[in-house]
Amino acid sequence: MDKYKKSIALLKKARELTPLGAQTYSRSFRYFGEGYGPSFIERGKGCKVWDIDGNEYIDFVCALGPITIGYNDERVNEAIIKQLEKGIIFSQPSPISIELAEKLVDIIPCAEMVRFVKNGSDATEAAVRLARAYTGRDMIVVCGYHGMHDWYIGSTANHRGIPEQIRQLTKSVDYNNIEALESLLSEYKGQIAGIILEPIQGNGPEEGYLQKLRQLTQKNGVVLIFDEVVSGFRYALGGASELYNVAPDLIAFGKGMANGMPISAVAGKKEIVDLISEGVFVSTTFGDETLSMAAALKTIKILVDEKAFDKFWTLGNLMQEGIQRLLLKNGLEEVLVTHGLAPHQGLVFNGIRDLSYLDINSIFQQKMLEEGILSLGINNINLSHSQNEIKTYLDVADMGMGDIKKAIAANSIKSILKGEKIDPIFKR
Ligand SMILES: Cc1ncc(COP(=O)(O)O)c(C=O)c1O
Repeated sequence: MDKYKKSIALLKKARELTPLGAQTYSRSFRYFGEGYGPSFIERGKGCKVWDIDGNEYIDFVCALGPITIGYNDERVNEAIIKQLEKGIIFSQPSPISIELAEKLVDIIPCAEMVRFVKNGSDATEAAVRLARAYTGRDMIVVCGYHGMHDWYIGSTANHRGIPEQIRQLTKSVDYNNIEALESLLSEYKGQIAGIILEPIQGNGPEEGYLQKLRQLTQKNGVVLIFDEVVSGFRYALGGASELYNVAPDLIAFGKGMANGMPISAVAGKKEIVDLISEGVFVSTTFGDETLSMAAALKTIKILVDEKAFDKFWTLGNLMQEGIQRLLLKNGLEEVLVTHGLAPHQGLVFNGIRDLSYLDINSIFQQKMLEEGILSLGINNINLSHSQNEIKTYLDVADMGMGDIKKAIAANSIKSILKGEKIDPIFKR
């Protein structure tokens, strides 16, 4: 396809050089589809990005979550450049790390102490290690997605390469199911160090769920860890613990903290986090890198000054209500289901007749890309989106639903899909 000529050629080369041609599974063709859209992005500004063939897109992926202000924001850039002129990283910490730690302690309800790392996985890994050290127990309960480390990924279908002994130490529970946790706590009495959960999943916590979780963990001496790598800096400044007024013992933050710069943090009760001072090992070379810290301080300031979270909820609601209207209009409420809370929401796809959910997803995705929308089903709202972009999204979603209806009528995607189907590596 001429429109994606450069992307197609570079993807072919890239696949020879690096697995799937991308450094993150969900940025690869396996998630975006192949042959009917871009594979490489060259630049971004605000809520728009341009692929290497020069095609323009409104982006609702927000780089998988990090972009909370907008791409290439001049104010954040300026803060980074100002710090760059002093230096990137030094042989001792820079005062900016203490400034940022103080800021996080100020805005995150349960945070008394903070440790900076780089990826969300580093922060969840640190939290789990701290929970084990603090309790002297080995088992971990997981609820959600928590990154690439053995204790979590060993509990999923992608567990190749992880020793069975490690896998035995992790148990999973379903979200909003307090009884499942109760039964694990009684089955493994005195053995569970911590429960780590994404506090906002799907349509959010049922009334009282997080509070019960807090009581239950306290009663059983289990460390409660909120994985706010997605929910932090997206739903509220202090994350879900502020939104629902529940204080966990530890919180992992990442993604949206610095508008795209790589920084994450584990924060929480001093008596737990400060075990790091005693040698509970959480220490990385780039933990003191300052450009990301400068970006985080500026990002937080902009989020506050511009009342970002009110805006994320308002625009997200507009999008969600619009999608719901379109589903009713197109009679597709059973095939496409709205999912998530306003600032991070979108569609879940279901199979119908001989069509799988991935058939339906691919048909929709193709139309989105053709019409200049970058989305992965679930959308993030950032400060540079406006009602105009939501309207464009809805117009294109309506067209995508039209294609889905055609595919359902034909009971086939063959004559509609122009390339390879979406085929995620990680299936929850
Ligand atoms: C909830 C949650 N926790 C942890 C992680 C891991 O973060 P990272 O990919 O930055 O290591 C992710 C990544 O998507 C996530 O969504």
